[in-house]
Amino acid sequence: MNPMKTIDGLDPIIFVIFGGAGDLAWRKLIPALFDLAQDRSQPAQFAIVAVDRIKLSDDALRRRLHDGVNQFSRFGKAKTAAWNQFAQHIQYQQGDFTKLQTYTALGKQCAKLEKEWRIKARRIFYMATPPSMFGEIPKYLGQAGLSRDRDWARIVIEKPIGYDLESARALNAILAASFDESQIFRIDHYLGKETVQNILAFRFANPLFEPLWNRRYIDYVTITVAETVGVEHRGGYYDHAGALRDMVQNHLMQLLCLVAMEPMVSFEADEIRNKKVDVLHAARPIHRDAVPQCAVRGQYGPGRADGKKVPGYREEVGVARDSQTETFVALKLFIDNWRWQDVPFYLRTGKCLPQQASEISIQFRAVPHQSFPPEASLGWQASRLILAIQPVEGIVLGFQAKYPGPKVQLRPVDMRFSYHESFDAPSPDAYETLLWDVMKGDATLFMRADQVEAAWQLVMPVLEAWQAASPSDFPNYAAGTWGPEDAQRLLSQGHSWPAPTELAAKCPRKGKHS
Ligand code: BG6
Repeated sequence: MNPMKTIDGLDPIIFVIFGGAGDLAWRKLIPALFDLAQDRSQPAQFAIVAVDRIKLSDDALRRRLHDGVNQFSRFGKAKTAAWNQFAQHIQYQQGDFTKLQTYTALGKQCAKLEKEWRIKARRIFYMATPPSMFGEIPKYLGQAGLSRDRDWARIVIEKPIGYDLESARALNAILAASFDESQIFRIDHYLGKETVQNILAFRFANPLFEPLWNRRYIDYVTITVAETVGVEHRGGYYDHAGALRDMVQNHLMQLLCLVAMEPMVSFEADEIRNKKVDVLHAARPIHRDAVPQCAVRGQYGPGRADGKKVPGYREEVGVARDSQTETFVALKLFIDNWRWQDVPFYLRTGKCLPQQASEISIQFRAVPHQSFPPEASLGWQASRLILAIQPVEGIVLGFQAKYPGPKVQLRPVDMRFSYHESFDAPSPDAYETLLWDVMKGDATLFMRADQVEAAWQLVMPVLEAWQAASPSDFPNYAAGTWGPEDAQRLLSQGHSWPAPTELAAKCPRKGKHS
């Protein structure tokens, strides 16, 4: 085997983390890189250069990162030898992100490593900083000549990509001034989740459902991302963002694209990204005047969760006492194309809901003619397919079956696939998948500039309408309940938000998942 290459044939890598002493590096990036190294998905020539403002020695940084790995690694507490082996690849560089000299020093450090290794390395610049730095770092990287080499330099950016359409366009323009689109990796960590990737496999690797995946057979689709947690320690950020920016514009839109997209011709990154962006282009624009009919916002007040009292959103640290920020959103969307015309897509997400559940439900239409007598039904329901993303990972198909006995009686039953029962392999953390893809240069699971902007474009009328008119009823749901009652109002007659699947009780989780 070529000693320069890993089992996956990666080139030598210098992984630069701006904000390397911060929370994201500690909690997500270093544990993911460590886990990849344990799986030998890391080249022999590999360096992590953590750049941050504070004064810190290499050893002090390593101790801090070791603690993060012990807490968040998929392998549990790190074995001393494994950690020591990994830690020697980490170094620290103090620097101000808004000074050119930080970047020239970084350039020299990269050149020094390459000289030692006697080989050119791929340079990955990861912006794990507050968003206020997202517009600065690419400019300085450009000025220092560090973005010039299209094949060898990559930049990674995480949401929030802009605060609205205009700022997203401005940020994309800054990135484009120094980097080619092929060098830019915009992370939406939902796309790294195994079960999210499985939507493509389920839809396009099986001939069974695709013929039914359209307006003829599907009545409506719901996409739920429910969280039990509140804003935790992120009140300062969240109070300026809200659920529409924090969750809908990115994670829920990605799920929508994967469920609604047309089959791709090949597994090429741009082919898949084209098909996804087509969904956003086909989404029926929401007119500002029609926002009340298509969107509902909510904010949690005090309530109970797990038998304990929970404070209201306005009592959280970093949140304004009279905050108008939404912690719950429900939307009704339509995709205007041949496949989906007039099929409602209902999206909802919220904090402090009763149960953590990310699920997509495909509700099929009723049979065209009901041959069974009404008395045969013990709770008749049309078929429904649930794609359970987290914490339960699986797929459930609900259909009608005959109840045993001499009489003909029908009862809904479920057919279940559980990841944990079917596969004896733990799911990697989403960041492992995504960082590995950045290292390989596979952009399939990353958002392209046009997709980010199309998602903003779709939600902008809602943002604008909500900004123009303060909600009069906030807080309008108690923590530990399923959001404001108005979320029911969005649904057309006969439609309902599905109760999260009971798969959880039947398929206990194994291992760690993001
Ligand atoms: C983040 C949001 O992008 O996603 C958080 O900023 C949210 O508010 C989180 O809690 C949810 O991610 P996951 O992977 O826990 O579903």
